[in-house]
Amino acid sequence: MSAATDEPGVFIAASILNADFSRLDRAVHKMERAGVDRLHLDVMDGHFVDNLTFGADVVSAFRRLTTMPLDVHLMISEPARYIDRFIAAHPQTISFHVEAPETDSQKDDALDAVAAAGIGTGLAVSPDTPIEAVADRAARLDVIMVMTVEPGWGGQGFLADAAAKIVGARQMLAAAGRGGLVHVDGGVNRDTAEIVGGHGVDVCVVGSALFQRSRDATDEVGLVRERALHARLAAAATGAAPQG
Ligand code: DX5
Ligand code: ZN
Repeated sequence: MSAATDEPGVFIAASILNADFSRLDRAVHKMERAGVDRLHLDVMDGHFVDNLTFGADVVSAFRRLTTMPLDVHLMISEPARYIDRFIAAHPQTISFHVEAPETDSQKDDALDAVAAAGIGTGLAVSPDTPIEAVADRAARLDVIMVMTVEPGWGGQGFLADAAAKIVGARQMLAAAGRGGLVHVDGGVNRDTAEIVGGHGVDVCVVGSALFQRSRDATDEVGLVRERALHARLAAAATGAAPQG
């Protein structure tokens, strides 16, 4: 909810995965100028997904570059093993995958450690995983990250079937009543914003659409926000999407 109006807000998180990694400072400042609300940092281990990006030291470097909230998205097989390092980097939220092969108790311990540090807790859900996989932990989550591409790469096509899970995620967080937000990650841009908005998205993660030369980032941020919010309000008016 937006505090000023009590209307639902739609926030934009920029995924820097497709930015120029030789000038990340420029990419961050470009996103600040474009009006994004948060930075989304994709951590990949070459094991959970077939790609490698960066670790906690680079998250700390982003912390020094900007005062924007940082959302860490861990696509790694052992989130519990590495969680303390990411906590030490002081992001606003840390999400890891419910499909990670660690045990349930390791996942619970990792969520506890994140919460104890005052950082937002999140679980991410890959396209083939039913949203019910996070149901028993929803009451302790600040973020449910619904993936609308297979984790691993930016610039993939949007999976509309996976987007339907936003509705269930929104319902779970609304029932928990702690203000948790549904992030939607993968293939979100001006052309798909209406779909995610219509399902009740809170945070649009936008990657390649912000770093493609042909598109103006400020323009893209404005269009995604406007179209998603418009669709969300329209769905709320008809009762099609639950509100938080
Ligand atoms: C994919 C990442 C996404 C991705 C989004 O594994 O989690 O955050 O970078 O990029 P686009 O918007 O290009 O799908
Ligand atoms: Zn991501």
